[in-house]
Amino acid sequence: MSERRLFRRRALWIAGNWKMNGTRAETQAFFDALKSSFPKSDLPAALHTAIFVSPLSIDRALTVRGDLPVEIGLQNVHFESKGAYTGEISGPMALEAGVKLALVGHSERRQYFGETDATAKRRTESLLAQGFTVIHCIGETKTERLENQTENVLARQIDDGLPTEYSDRLIVAYEPVWAIGTGLTATPEQAEEAHAFIRARLATCYNREAAEKLPILYGGSVTPEVFPALLALPNVDGGLVGGASLKPESFRTLIEQGVEASRSAE
Ligand code: PGA
Repeated sequence: MSERRLFRRRALWIAGNWKMNGTRAETQAFFDALKSSFPKSDLPAALHTAIFVSPLSIDRALTVRGDLPVEIGLQNVHFESKGAYTGEISGPMALEAGVKLALVGHSERRQYFGETDATAKRRTESLLAQGFTVIHCIGETKTERLENQTENVLARQIDDGLPTEYSDRLIVAYEPVWAIGTGLTATPEQAEEAHAFIRARLATCYNREAAEKLPILYGGSVTPEVFPALLALPNVDGGLVGGASLKPESFRTLIEQGVEASRSAE
């Protein structure tokens, strides 16, 4: 069986991370526009689309989304189910609001809000146990890459940050920090090299079968211009997209490119 076939047996994700963007009114306008231009035919079963919105826009997003096949997620959910954690949101609160998808360990949480491999691991383990699907982010900084530390950093983030037990609701996003919001997308060679390394490491943490099934998304200045070349790589299973997910036209184009990539493999 070819490498390409194995790749297409994994789910493909097109996920938008809105960060601290999107008021309720903007969320409504985005989904209204997306609905009017969304691909008319059903999406391939293995293609998932999602947007991580502000907690205050969750109810608006869920309502205005209607029957669009776009999952709504939260960007940061705590590992404890309640208690003295000012400013945090718990899993039960998210579930009550109708959300079962969470982002964990984004580099901005690590850089500005003290997230570590240890706290990211607690979040991911707790959320998976509560039934969430989790996209867990890892990636090296520019300095770490320049110092040839990329593989060491990824290995540490995987060994110390990912849950001990494999779950089929776990997704990893490789987001080189130097590529986030900079317009400097990783080249296909850089992305494939990192993704292949991550998959091999996952095989040592879990097992080969689990590592083959686990989707690994690329994030960092994904746009419709660069996305098809990334989607064609054997170890890239979609994208986690910041800036380009804020505009309905570019998000829709990324979804169409995902549909194309799913079909071209059938
Ligand atoms: P970007 O952000 O696409 O704007 O680079 C990606 C991310 O931080 O998830």
